[in-house]
Amino acid sequence: MEELVVRVTEADHAYHTLDSPILPDSKYDAMKSQLRQLEDAYPELKRDDSPTGSVGAVPLKGFAKVRHLKTMLSLDNAFNEKDLSDFVDRIKRFLSLDPATVVAFTAERKIDGLAISLLYEKGTLVRAATRGRGDVGEDVTANIRTMSAVPKNIKNSPDVIEIRGEIYMTRDEFEKLNAQQALQVEKDMAEGRKSMAKVFANPRNAAAGSVRQLDREVTRSRKLKFLAHGWGEVSEPMAQSHSEAVARLSQMGLPVNPAIHKCRNLEEMLNRYNSELAGRPQLEYDIDGVVYKVDSLVLQERLGSASTAPRWAIAFKFPPEKVWTRLLDIDIQVGRTGVLAPVARLEPVAVGGVTVANVTLHNEDYIAGRDAKGEPIRDGIDIRVGDFVQIYRSGDVIPRIAAVDLSKREDSSSRFEFPAACPSCGADAPRSSTDSMRRCSGGLACQAQALEGLKHFVSRQALDIDGLGEKIIEEFYRTGEITTPADIFTIEQRLGRAGTPLEERKGWQEKSAQNLYRQIEDSRQVGFVQLLIALGVRHVGVQTSELVAEHFRTWDRFLNAMQQARELSGPDWEGLVSIDGIGDVTAASLVGTFNNREFKRIVDDLMQNLDISSFEAPDMPGSPLAGRAIVFTGTLQAMARAEAKARAEAMGARIYGAVSNKIDLVVAGKGSGKKGERARQLGIEVIEEEAWLQLLGISATDPELAEELPLLAS
Ligand code: IVH
Repeated sequence: MEELVVRVTEADHAYHTLDSPILPDSKYDAMKSQLRQLEDAYPELKRDDSPTGSVGAVPLKGFAKVRHLKTMLSLDNAFNEKDLSDFVDRIKRFLSLDPATVVAFTAERKIDGLAISLLYEKGTLVRAATRGRGDVGEDVTANIRTMSAVPKNIKNSPDVIEIRGEIYMTRDEFEKLNAQQALQVEKDMAEGRKSMAKVFANPRNAAAGSVRQLDREVTRSRKLKFLAHGWGEVSEPMAQSHSEAVARLSQMGLPVNPAIHKCRNLEEMLNRYNSELAGRPQLEYDIDGVVYKVDSLVLQERLGSASTAPRWAIAFKFPPEKVWTRLLDIDIQVGRTGVLAPVARLEPVAVGGVTVANVTLHNEDYIAGRDAKGEPIRDGIDIRVGDFVQIYRSGDVIPRIAAVDLSKREDSSSRFEFPAACPSCGADAPRSSTDSMRRCSGGLACQAQALEGLKHFVSRQALDIDGLGEKIIEEFYRTGEITTPADIFTIEQRLGRAGTPLEERKGWQEKSAQNLYRQIEDSRQVGFVQLLIALGVRHVGVQTSELVAEHFRTWDRFLNAMQQARELSGPDWEGLVSIDGIGDVTAASLVGTFNNREFKRIVDDLMQNLDISSFEAPDMPGSPLAGRAIVFTGTLQAMARAEAKARAEAMGARIYGAVSNKIDLVVAGKGSGKKGERARQLGIEVIEEEAWLQLLGISATDPELAEELPLLAS
């Protein structure tokens, strides 16, 4: 019993709090039920802190959420030479540069640590925050202040600057810490205590665990290091180039990595990668690749960012570690849109710093050894239960299968037969003609879909109710107390009237119940974008939801348009598909879903319980384009279409592909033809390239800009 308590508790913590499971579900369930049986047989031996009596684990709480002044983005990845050369080509194309033009890049080590943002005001550290969701992170100021590697004061700095960098632990320090932790765990177990000590999988986790620590004395004892590699908000220009800016960070008194090199072409970039790869084992800290950044800050500014990563930087990742393990079983999971997703259960194995027990098998073609076009993958070798498979973690997170060892395959093995019906509700699961996926046709009547839909509804990017973790939602779904999104908002009232109050249930206390109810109350006030994401319409993710909200502004207007567009024609349909970034498939999915009877009922019920705020365009005082709907047509000379759109968006404009009476402005380049004509007929303002550049504040005759916009100069 003692051992089961420790192992189940650890698995709970890994699953719920760290989001990194260490046991296959089947094993976890077996251990937990064995523990429960023993506890029923010997109640006097049941420990007060037994994990059988709790739903989920304590979420990491205690850190206030803080909004970064500038969003913390992440980096796009390159995995091979081609990805890197595509990156360079893409940049030149975006900037309308001749392929032969030299664009200088810096190359830096990608440190495998915890991203941090340090806010300095008038040279004094006033706040430290983790990346969190990107826009909002956790306030870890008190912990960071204990670190001697982070200066509390910097000199000659801008009035306001958010320093971005990496907190990490050296390999030596990590080994020492883990040895101590292991001793502590052993000691606690020997003395029958539940151990709070944790053995970390890798230096990155150790660094993250040491910062996201409620007891700051623990952080202090961990000897963490810090290196600055950039900045977010800053009250004055930093420099002309990234390399100069890094030198300036160093002059301010911030630790920076001296290993920063300038590269003038792809060959130099690849050489840098190879020498960092070769030198990696000798470093005192872990790195997982090389980060390349466009050196010129003017060019960085022009390139701007896509939704999650800047266009001017990329991380070229080192090749992943690969390991062999046995494939124990293949399960079919049903996703919220009905997709039948095959998952391989593996003999758990350590790879790339974490223990992997599950790996996605994508679809039936993938299992059979074919890609979407019918071409062989893995030399056409299929995947079978019982096979030895080679695993790696791609893009650093998602585990995948690299190869199958045929020499170890047993003669008695047979090909995996992919089900043609939903394993949850039994409805037909026909194959889609476009993506090799089978989808359950049971719709909202399928329990698996409904449950996954609920999990998505409360997830971070949607309504963000973190008190309703997966296990808790599953439990409420099992009891029938929450089966639709609207049920979440009536649960407190219903449990108050009938049934066992939450605080009297296993695993709940007065305080955790109150916390959950408070979170639910808070989430009644929801934004258009969050709500649309939460409803989980197929093909409609974060980006599409933002475009839709920007276009319609209010939820009522949106619902009304969806109804008007139900025949996939008419002005409301045209309006929807004219949004740049929304194609026919996405639009049809939206309209179809919002006209589905069952879905409409769910939305109606939900609206009784929510206060939906309209989309608010970000405040951009002084921007001549803020809130304006723009169509680009014809060829622009000074900048490629992509850059023109990105600039307009950055200044608060909405971009459309078709001219209609909803459009405020048409930018007509060379050969604009029909669209320009139609715009003039409708009385819409049409401007040519020169006026467009003026709107952007660029003068074609400005010599400095002409240098950056080479086509203008010519
Ligand atoms: S630049 C706009 N430079 O990698 C994002 N990031 O995978 C700019 N990282 O969140 C990031 N070493 O925490 C940059 N030399 C380096 C880095 C580095 C490590 C981390 C960083 C970022 C993550 C992206």
